Amino acid sequence: MPSQPNENGLLPKFAAVGVLIVLVLLVLNLKRSHTPGPIVPTPAVERTGLPDRIPIAQVGAVSFPIVEKAIVEATDDEKNQWVGAAVCGECHKENYEGAIHTSHFKTTFAITNTPPGHFDGKGSFMRSGNPRLHYEMSEEGGRYFQTAVESGKPIHKASFDVAIGSGKLGQTYATWVKDALFELPVTYFTPIDSWVNSPGYPPKSAHFERPLNNGCLDCHATGFVPASDHEMNNRYKSRHIIMGVTCERCHGKGRKHVDFHRANPGVTEAKHIVDPRKITVAERNALCSQCHGGATGKMGPNQKPGVHSNNQLQRLKKSACFSKSEGVSCTDCHNPHSFERGNKKLFAQRCQECHQVDDCGDLVPAKRAYFAENCHTCHMEPQPMQDIKMFTTQGVVLPEILDHYIRVIPEKSIKTAKK
Ligand code: HEC
Ligand code: HEC
Ligand code: HEC
Ligand code: HEC
Ligand code: HEC
Ligand code: HEC
Ligand code: HEC
Repeated sequence: MPSQPNENGLLPKFAAVGVLIVLVLLVLNLKRSHTPGPIVPTPAVERTGLPDRIPIAQVGAVSFPIVEKAIVEATDDEKNQWVGAAVCGECHKENYEGAIHTSHFKTTFAITNTPPGHFDGKGSFMRSGNPRLHYEMSEEGGRYFQTAVESGKPIHKASFDVAIGSGKLGQTYATWVKDALFELPVTYFTPIDSWVNSPGYPPKSAHFERPLNNGCLDCHATGFVPASDHEMNNRYKSRHIIMGVTCERCHGKGRKHVDFHRANPGVTEAKHIVDPRKITVAERNALCSQCHGGATGKMGPNQKPGVHSNNQLQRLKKSACFSKSEGVSCTDCHNPHSFERGNKKLFAQRCQECHQVDDCGDLVPAKRAYFAENCHTCHMEPQPMQDIKMFTTQGVVLPEILDHYIRVIPEKSIKTAKK
């Protein structure tokens, strides 16, 4: 089943590539094709991805029941597969206590607290591309709802049940309809602290029927049991999803490891678990690039890094750091068990495992301290993502993301250096 990590946690290399192609297509909402070609970004409006299965006409008539309470009981099947991060934390306290603060950990969760956006006042409205249609976000008795209002009449209302995204750039929501998850049409977009039309939804008419396929959860969750093997499935055997990218997504299902070490407390050598320190650089990078490897084929000159082209690995591979060394691992610079975002000094130290500040030439002496702590500001300049366009009241916004093609970016670097 392509949607679950296999026994040892690493998808076989070829399967991983195959899964990636499928996932990328899925996210871009391109029609499935047996011979995927190069992925050409198209404007978000054209990618509605509306399934044939659910007639759009149903939407206006409020056809989906609003589920009153999510059932979060694991089936035996699930209990046998994953143990969940808290259990790992019993014996790996430090890794656990660090990991719970990471964006990976928070990248999906069942909504129990207030989501980041506004639920009353002016900020709780979202206008659409259609003057007769707007959306209202509201809180009622501790639950949160999005309502489409057309010509003054509420036409469809759905609850915020699951959040996708830790909220660094934004957060998309999904609602349960029986055993199926559907993406909600309104997304929270962090850079402007405002509600925006969810990427992939048509901006001018009310829709709530875009399935939240298991593709999203493949990259944003640890474990789930789909209701069928169909790769575009958005139905789940139960609502018990192991939310967030947690321990077992990278180390493999932990049941056997945990049972063994609980029964053999004297054994200090690990059994039945993937230790990514013991695999090759390429395999370790493949582990991360299941979700961060992104675009297939050659990177064209105009192909930019993007949230859902996820091409950190391809970009990194273009760097001299990668090609002229023994190969660099994602984990040479990133510790998956710790929240490190924004810690420039720490990242700069990692560059200085291989480089020196004086490599930057004549400009250094005047601003040594600045150079020493800002390597990525000059050498990994953020680029606007071409594949996610956010249509906002302030115009189209392309969120920016760091470029992992590490290099001297002459104009910008020198401008920053002289400032
Ligand atoms: C009952 C205690 C226990 C639990 C629970 C437990 N582990 Fe371990 N784990 C160990 C012991 C003992 C070792 C070997 C000593 C060490 O490396 O800390 C180990 C080692 C590891 C290693 C290093 C592997 C190696 O080859 O050195 C990883 C990775 C790991 N565990 C992951 C996990 C994950 C993920 C979970 C949750 C699914 C988990 N552990 C739950 C006891 C446990
Ligand atoms: C199962 C998919 C998956 C795997 C495997 C994965 N990631 Fe991620 N990663 C994500 C997602 C999804 C996010 C976005 C989290 C968010 O903000 O919601 C992310 C975010 C990140 C971030 C940004 C964190 C921040 O706070 O800015 C880094 C760095 C990162 N991943 C590194 C890695 C590394 C290194 C590996 C391999 C050891 C890895 N990832 C493996 C899915 C994955
Ligand atoms: C191929 C793996 C992959 C798939 C499939 C995928 N995502 Fe992501 N997503 C990521 C990664 C990786 C990031 C983090 C981007 C980064 O920082 O590089 C991310 C980021 C996001 C963010 C922003 C999170 C934040 O905190 O800023 C949202 C929202 C999001 N994804 C929603 C979705 C939805 C909805 C789907 C399904 C339609 C989906 N993703 C499918 C990998 C994926
Ligand atoms: C995004 C992927 C990812 C996640 C999530 C993750 N790990 Fe790891 N883990 C790794 C990688 C990669 C390494 C090897 C690190 C290296 O190369 O130095 C590792 C190493 C380890 C080790 C051995 C080295 C050490 O730090 O002791 C243990 C134990 C471990 N992880 C436990 C956990 C536990 C427990 C969790 C959940 C709380 C967890 N990991 C979550 C990727 C991950
Ligand atoms: C594992 C070692 C390693 C790490 C870590 C590393 N690099 Fe490199 N880097 C190299 C090697 C090797 C080269 C090629 C040097 C040469 O050609 O002489 C290189 C080249 C470069 C270049 C020149 C690129 C070009 O196209 O000429 C820059 C700039 C650079 N690195 C910046 C960084 C920054 C910034 C970081 C941290 C974010 C970093 N490196 C981390 C090994 C590394
Ligand atoms: C040479 C060092 C280096 C290597 C190797 C590296 N990264 Fe990064 N990465 C960074 C730095 C520096 C940042 C910025 C950290 C911060 O957010 O403060 C970053 C940020 C990120 C982010 C967040 C990007 C954003 O703008 O939101 C993701 C996701 C990520 N890295 C994934 C990866 C993955 C996956 C790999 C392996 C293919 C990788 N990185 C390899 C240095 C590196
Ligand atoms: C203010 C911008 C800036 C910062 C910060 C900065 N650099 Fe540079 N770096 C440059 C410029 C500009 C050059 C090109 C210098 C030249 O060609 O004389 C350069 C050159 C380099 C080179 C050599 C490239 C070559 O030609 O081989 C390396 C390696 C490098 N930097 C690494 C780093 C590391 C590591 C850090 C952090 C400790 C860092 N840089 C911080 C601007 C910066």
